[in-house]
Amino acid sequence: MPSDYLYEQLAAELGDAIERGALRAGGKLPSVRRLAEDRALSVATVVQAYSVLEGTGLIEARPKSGYFVRRRTDDGDAPRPPRKSVTATRPAVSDGIARLIAALRDPGVVPLAAAYLDPGTLKVAQLNRIAAALAREVSTLGARDDTPPGLATLRRALARRSISWGAPMTEHDFVATIGATEAITLALRAVARPGDAVVVESPTYFGILQTIEALGLKVVEVPAHPRTGIDLAALHDALKATPIRAIVTMPTAANPLGSIMPDDAKAALYALAVRHDVPIIEDDVYGELCFDGARPRPIKAWDKDGRVLLCGSVSKTLAPGYRVGWIAPGRYQDDIERLKFSQSLACPTLTGMAVAEMLSSGSYDRHLRRLRHVVAGQVARYREEVLARFPDGTRVSAPRGGFVLWIELPGAVDTLVLQERALARGVAIAPGPIFSARQQRFSACLRLSCGQPLTPRVATALDLIAHLAQDLAARGARGHRASA
Ligand SMILES: Cc1ncc(COP(=O)(O)O)c(C=O)c1O
Repeated sequence: MPSDYLYEQLAAELGDAIERGALRAGGKLPSVRRLAEDRALSVATVVQAYSVLEGTGLIEARPKSGYFVRRRTDDGDAPRPPRKSVTATRPAVSDGIARLIAALRDPGVVPLAAAYLDPGTLKVAQLNRIAAALAREVSTLGARDDTPPGLATLRRALARRSISWGAPMTEHDFVATIGATEAITLALRAVARPGDAVVVESPTYFGILQTIEALGLKVVEVPAHPRTGIDLAALHDALKATPIRAIVTMPTAANPLGSIMPDDAKAALYALAVRHDVPIIEDDVYGELCFDGARPRPIKAWDKDGRVLLCGSVSKTLAPGYRVGWIAPGRYQDDIERLKFSQSLACPTLTGMAVAEMLSSGSYDRHLRRLRHVVAGQVARYREEVLARFPDGTRVSAPRGGFVLWIELPGAVDTLVLQERALARGVAIAPGPIFSARQQRFSACLRLSCGQPLTPRVATALDLIAHLAQDLAARGARGHRASA
């Protein structure tokens, strides 16, 4: 059925021409202005059409050169996005996640499942020194509780940092939370009631699905592209087909894909949210961990009417155990403050004060520069190892930020079986099915954390996973879980 919107019609027409080979791979597309003139369309329509095609990975923007049809091999051998669907489903991922958490606690297990960086890579020691000094100097510390919106020093530090994000805000725009997890939970509670449906990317971080499950919500899963994130055309279909209460998205260094949405796709996503009057819950925990160039702007930078609830934390850059997070909830500020108070009253003062001091110091930016470099190198080394050791036909993401790899194994390998077998031999992985509300989706996929330096112990663990995968692929082991 032809779309009601000109940009979608144009995107469909060009997409068709690319699929048929009428526009060849590597070829340059007409400039936005030329095409707008030729077709008597507005420049905005052409920009939106190009960003839809970029979102689906058919074309790419090259700085200062224009738009080009992507070569089929440009994604390397990235895992394939799932097929689209507009049906709302209730996630049931908690059992799978419980298995993953049990493995986390065992120091004898090689931790390739959870996305945590090695403490040596973070600035935990420096942060601990700041906290110790604060504990000595501030005699009232611990006697106060910093009720919502939370510590002013932390909110002021975030406001200063928001300038470098390209989304300048004031201290009054933030509410302190216990990690990004609480921020996302509060955001979902503010905009949806049990039984409502929200959009998530597919695959998505299992913690988001677990929160959605706990709140009694449903999800419509919109395919995400390994380089450019959520598929805007499929998102549009979902918004037209089902009443949606929120779009939950990770535009910057998404977990597990490591994708980054191009700026014009972010603008188009925001425009879609405005048209369908849907709030956007933006998970930005990996925002500071992109490998090339400047930190991408969050969608919050486009937010003119306060519909974006930006959620973040220092869990990926400083100290996951400090549980310092925040939300910039836009027009939902009052609701979020009330919900935060009823959910957990306040945030721990000592860790909040220490993080505020660290964020305000020049050493934080130096730390981030070093961290990005270390993380990018670590991810590249893990990726090489996987490509060298895993069975032929394995597809591996090429993350543009963050520190996880998303891997699709060849054949009918069931990664829940792989998880059990690897764990029995002391290695933890995150199996694909917990990244979706649909149990069968991603059953041949897994996520590997590259948060630990690639030591000989890790290399041996990767070798073990590779052998187990090879063995399962050879046997077509789907359905053999009982024998694992
Ligand atoms: C994408 C994403 N969002 C949120 C979180 C949770 O962050 P926090 O530890 O700040 O609660 C994680 C942690 O793994 C994550 O990967």
